[in-house]
Amino acid sequence: MEVKAAVCSGNTEPFTIRNVTLDDLRPDELRIRMVASGICHTDMAVRDQQLPVPLPVVLGHEGAGIVEEVGSNVTSAQPGDRVVMSFNSCGHCPSCDAEAPTYCYDFFPHNWSGTRADGSPTLFADGEPMNGNFFGQSSFATYAIAHDRNVVKVPDSASDIPLERLAPIGCGLMTGAGAVLRSMKVRAGMPIAVFGAGTVGMAAIMAAKIAEANPIIAVDVNDERLALAKELGATHAFNGRDDAPGKIREVCPQGLGYAFDTTGINTVIEQAWSLLAPKGVVGMVGASDPADELNFNEAMFMGGGRTVMGILGGDSDVGPFMLELIGYHLEGRFPFEKLIGYFDFGQINEAIEASESGKVVKPVLRIGNES
Ligand SMILES: NC(=O)c1ccc[n+]([C@@H]2O[C@H](COP(=O)([O-])OP(=O)(O)OC[C@H]3O[C@@H](n4cnc5c(N)ncnc54)[C@H](O)[C@@H]3O)[C@@H](O)[C@H]2O)c1
Ligand SMILES: [Zn+2]
Ligand SMILES: [Zn+2]
Repeated sequence: MEVKAAVCSGNTEPFTIRNVTLDDLRPDELRIRMVASGICHTDMAVRDQQLPVPLPVVLGHEGAGIVEEVGSNVTSAQPGDRVVMSFNSCGHCPSCDAEAPTYCYDFFPHNWSGTRADGSPTLFADGEPMNGNFFGQSSFATYAIAHDRNVVKVPDSASDIPLERLAPIGCGLMTGAGAVLRSMKVRAGMPIAVFGAGTVGMAAIMAAKIAEANPIIAVDVNDERLALAKELGATHAFNGRDDAPGKIREVCPQGLGYAFDTTGINTVIEQAWSLLAPKGVVGMVGASDPADELNFNEAMFMGGGRTVMGILGGDSDVGPFMLELIGYHLEGRFPFEKLIGYFDFGQINEAIEASESGKVVKPVLRIGNES
């Protein structure tokens, strides 16, 4: 089947929209007609080759759309269903067995190899294989092949919420909220600081409010984002260029229960670590230079029982957690619509530029109509 897809060839040229061919469905796969896709910083991390996904590739991993066709073994959704997509996983490794699929032992082949896990291509261009199956979806396209394990049917309770709004729930929002509610299990009444108030950080701030953390401190270098962070639940907001650590110490003289880094900058992570109270946890999700190292004082680890926690996908178990987040959204406690700026599919390069300049927190591409 011929579809239109945005192809990424690296950071020396813009994404280009071209015709590609979608492979036939396997028994565990679904063909989705895309309605919208969020753009996440991780798409840019691949463009910049911080993640070793082969180029050229069709990216996009926050897709939402309508199921057109399903393979014979699919149980997650049926043709006509409204669905959102997330990351893929194998379903039978020790992490998947423990409902921790973001740490799937075979995460790479199922999400980042450019092919299906068995090495077969899902996309072709001019008769040759094209890298796709990014996060088991490659949603920067008019149609996508997804898998039974990474598709979630939108519940009837959310039938009034447009798919273009729900699209980003499958990565950035899930990651920030899950980091707080699931990975770090933030306790009520405990102080948290969130470094980097992009989509992931803002989701963490909204989730920290749900968890009743206090105070909730946002740190960013963009004052507009800090103002929005306060609207979404931050009790304090400090500019990272203006002695944020000193100000955090003043607010929390006993130290932070939790520090959540979304910047991926090693000096910011080390600063966050230095602010932790005993039993404090620094959670980190940001993409970083593969050569970067972190330095922590050994005695401070053991003496205070502190934890440095790498986090993927906010420890989401996909379906149940996405339904939980949609529930918070319906209750008005997870108002992520305030982060979104919409762009037409053909404006993908403008959307990326708006994200990188800080103008738009969460760009969402409008790819097709719902009906
Ligand atoms: N681990 C995961 O599962 C996972 C999932 C999604 C995204 N990510 C990664 O998380 C990171 C955040 O994603 P995002 O979509 O929110 O990105 P984003 O670019 O929207 O947000 C990053 C924020 O950090 C701020 N920032 C930059 N330098 C800073 C500094 N020195 N101090 C404080 N703030 C600073 C920026 O102004 C920006 O607001 C990215 O690296 C992305 O690749 C990881
Ligand atoms: Zn697995
Ligand atoms: Zn992402």
